[in-house]
Amino acid sequence: MIDLRSDVKTLPTDLMRRAIMEAEVGDDMAGEDPTVNALEAEAARLMGKEAALLVTSGTQGNLVSMMAHTQPGQKIILHNEAHLFHYERASLARIAGLLAHPLPGRYGIMDPADVDAAIWEPDLHRVSTGLVALENTHNRAGGTCWTAEQTAAVCEVAHAHGVPVHIDGARIFNAAIALGVPAAQLAAPADSITFCFSKSLGAPIGSIVCGSAEFIDRARQVRKILGGAMRQAGIIAAPALVALKHELPRLAEDHEKAKRIAATLHQLPGVQLDINTVQTNIIIFNLKRDDMTAADLCRRLSSYGIKAVPQTETRIRFVTHRDISFEDVDTVCSALRDILS
Ligand SMILES: Cc1ncc(COP(=O)(O)O)c(C=O)c1O
Repeated sequence: MIDLRSDVKTLPTDLMRRAIMEAEVGDDMAGEDPTVNALEAEAARLMGKEAALLVTSGTQGNLVSMMAHTQPGQKIILHNEAHLFHYERASLARIAGLLAHPLPGRYGIMDPADVDAAIWEPDLHRVSTGLVALENTHNRAGGTCWTAEQTAAVCEVAHAHGVPVHIDGARIFNAAIALGVPAAQLAAPADSITFCFSKSLGAPIGSIVCGSAEFIDRARQVRKILGGAMRQAGIIAAPALVALKHELPRLAEDHEKAKRIAATLHQLPGVQLDINTVQTNIIIFNLKRDDMTAADLCRRLSSYGIKAVPQTETRIRFVTHRDISFEDVDTVCSALRDILS
């Protein structure tokens, strides 16, 4: 099957499986796992931050970061299409005790003036703002990128009010490659960043939080509270190190695959696709046709050996990744032409 549902569907490579077998491990809760220590040092270096902390998932990385930055009863400012707002089971409210203040913004990018206006002066009635969170690449906006300048503009406003900024950078390397800048440049203006090994980088498990040594120390305590401290976690870190070495350099290929599929889709009747959103490995489009819903299209694609799921009655997301070849992309394009022409 050609699985376009998500880049989390990739299976570990032989190199990753071998790295798991051969990983040198120890008790990570005591800081004694050399493979985890190596991964944390490498992630911190890549993000230009002092320290890093391995976590089980992107959701846990975001939650650990929110809790390490804020106090319950504060407010978090974020985009109204943020993953944190839509897909993390309200962990920001249920566990971190934060009030979400969602803001609009074209292509997932918040306007610094809106962020400024949303940071209320706390008084008897209004809560203080504990954190601003942004998402790079922005999933629900179609994998769009925040430039370093856009990030810096929002950070400048937040920092002027003494408010820290966290980046949900689940796919930050896709943004870095699409923009042609080091990931550290995109992370530099922010106080912390989470990125995932198990998405476009294609490792089986794990995400990581990066920030100052003092912030990571607090994050480590929060991770323990959340049950995220692990023991011989080197077996998770080993394939993640392989991903950084061998998968990161090939992410541009996934972007090219997405562009080819988008170019085909764009020409087909009833497809509404803003081609400007196709910047990385995600394609989000709407199908506006009397004869077919998004679910119908996904069903028809399955008979060509293609897996896809609708997001709504009209909306579909495709994600390209390592396990989709350029030949598969040709198959997808001709299936789309057959069904939609
Ligand atoms: C932008 C973004 N942030 C966070 C997450 C959550 O990651 P996880 O599924 O590892 O919890 C995802 C998952 O797709 C994501 O796309």
